[in-house]
Amino acid sequence: MTLKEFIYQIPKAELHLHIEGSFEPELMFEIAKRNKIEIKFNSVEEVKAAYEFNNLQEFLDIYYEGAGVLIHEKDFYDMTWAYLEKIHQENVLHTEIFFDPQTHTDRGIDFDVAFNGIYKAMEDGKEKLGISYKIIMCFLRHLDEVSAFETLDSALKHKDKIIGVGLDSGELGNPPSKFQNVFKKAAQEGFELVAHAGEEGPAEYVWEALDLLNVSRIDHGNRSMDDEKLVARLAKEQMPLTLCPLSNLKLCVIDDLKDYPLKEMIAKGLMCTLNSDDPAYFGGYLSQNYEDVANAIDLSKEDIYELAKNSFKASYLTEAEKQVYLNKVESFYQENK
Ligand code: ADE
Ligand code: ZN
Repeated sequence: MTLKEFIYQIPKAELHLHIEGSFEPELMFEIAKRNKIEIKFNSVEEVKAAYEFNNLQEFLDIYYEGAGVLIHEKDFYDMTWAYLEKIHQENVLHTEIFFDPQTHTDRGIDFDVAFNGIYKAMEDGKEKLGISYKIIMCFLRHLDEVSAFETLDSALKHKDKIIGVGLDSGELGNPPSKFQNVFKKAAQEGFELVAHAGEEGPAEYVWEALDLLNVSRIDHGNRSMDDEKLVARLAKEQMPLTLCPLSNLKLCVIDDLKDYPLKEMIAKGLMCTLNSDDPAYFGGYLSQNYEDVANAIDLSKEDIYELAKNSFKASYLTEAEKQVYLNKVESFYQENK
């Protein structure tokens, strides 16, 4: 079995995926047409040509615009279902997806319309494709904490269906400290806590996410490598980092995948996972991220196996559920190493 086949077939989980970032241009056009919404591009090719970004904000501007064609519950369902069909082909057995309620409520779409469409697709994915899942809702950090509190309120009636809250959007100038109070309330309500930190922002933001927000997972966290004390802390606590290599490349967080410091991070004892972030925009789904990194920095089957195990260990599944998946990874590895 080639390394590529090994990567695509090994059982794995995805822990950092914005469902609005899985919205492929073809489907965007189709939904825009049926909702009679004008978009500023004339063709799928034109859209794809616009996917050249110099930084996070340039991407976010296009990403929020793309999400603007989602109006009805079915639109959210179709977008989510398309993602599930994609990952089913590459043996992703569990996924923990983000959605951005404020991207929709801010343009007059009801929280429940967006949520129900996503949720129904995830339930169908579990039943028809056998993909287990968790849903995490993210607060947009460029908005204020009042808006985040309103979003948390809207989520409360779906509390049994939303595992956690996160923090995303433009990082620089919007430190975790801005959201201390709403994260505290979310913790009291029983939500798991995660936050994007140290993607473009400094290591200081990772400290804040740990100490002020009390997160149990850091999304990205690359910039932690600038701070030795922080690395030691993350390693000691086995704090999972949900790394997204193709995202980092497309958003110019790194210049070349050959510089991806994954081996250094692992050598320092960090709990690393690989993820796709916004695959429709960054050139590949989960396995493509594994594959491109593997080729760039020469990962072995054993390295891939460890990363696949980490993806389940760092999930919000129960310990018993994790063990079932870890056994599947182990059997696959023993048969195909
Ligand atoms: N929203 C979608 N993708 C994101 C990313 N990579 N960073 C911050 N916010 C996002
Ligand atoms: Zn992200």
